[in-house]
Amino acid sequence: MLYKFNYDVLMNTAFNVPKHKLIGHRGVAGLRPENTYCSFDYAADLGLDWIEFDVLLTLDEKWVVIHDDTVDRTTNGQGMVRDMNLQDLEKLEAGLWFSPPYAGQKIPTLTGTLELAQQRSLFCNIEIKGADHSPEHYALLMSQFLSQYPALLLSKIMLSSFNLPCLIKIRELMPTVQIGYLVDEFASNTITIAQLYNFSCINCDVKKMTPENLAASKSAKLPIFLYTVNEPILAKFWLSKGVAGLFTDRPDLLLI
Ligand code: G3P
Ligand code: MG
Repeated sequence: MLYKFNYDVLMNTAFNVPKHKLIGHRGVAGLRPENTYCSFDYAADLGLDWIEFDVLLTLDEKWVVIHDDTVDRTTNGQGMVRDMNLQDLEKLEAGLWFSPPYAGQKIPTLTGTLELAQQRSLFCNIEIKGADHSPEHYALLMSQFLSQYPALLLSKIMLSSFNLPCLIKIRELMPTVQIGYLVDEFASNTITIAQLYNFSCINCDVKKMTPENLAASKSAKLPIFLYTVNEPILAKFWLSKGVAGLFTDRPDLLLI
């Protein structure tokens, strides 16, 4: 249930959303095909500091950037990502489904996305998907993948996942990496778990957040990031209450 707030008061409150409080969701998913290079580039063009994107493992255990378990919704192909090799995934068209001007976009690799992020000075929230059947293996492969990068680049990365066992294993393998505890519900033990595993923040569904939970998190010195906020009034409300940042598909609407 969305927390009810006073629209009239907020409509008459001047409140600019600072761009450093925004994380481009799947790049800029409302304006470009989600989780594509052009979406990440556009986030940088709009002046965002942070992008969020989702990663899955292919059959040959390469990390690719895509949200769904299947390629069906966002490409011209069909099938499970984990049943396909990288070489086959890279042949798919990943922009046309969104709009014809974006034809030619491909499913990005994590390698290519981190390269783009470095070039465009973007911080990255890498959300690990698909870990449910093998969380520890996913954690191991992610830590092995990231071990090729220097500490400076790693300091610009936050890992997150809905899969808590995967995050716990990542914490064991990478004691200093930033981890966002991604939850769809704010439970009574959410703060305790975040503290126990030294998570950097809690990333929660905006529909499930309450000012009381936000206050409790602030007391525990745990920043809260909310997904997905595309309405200016909702952004105003939660930022005025002290959330650390918002995932958004439409930074253009919030930055006005
Ligand atoms: O990480 C925040 C948000 O991306 C989580 O939900 O389904 O959009 O990946 P989803
Ligand atoms: Mg995501």
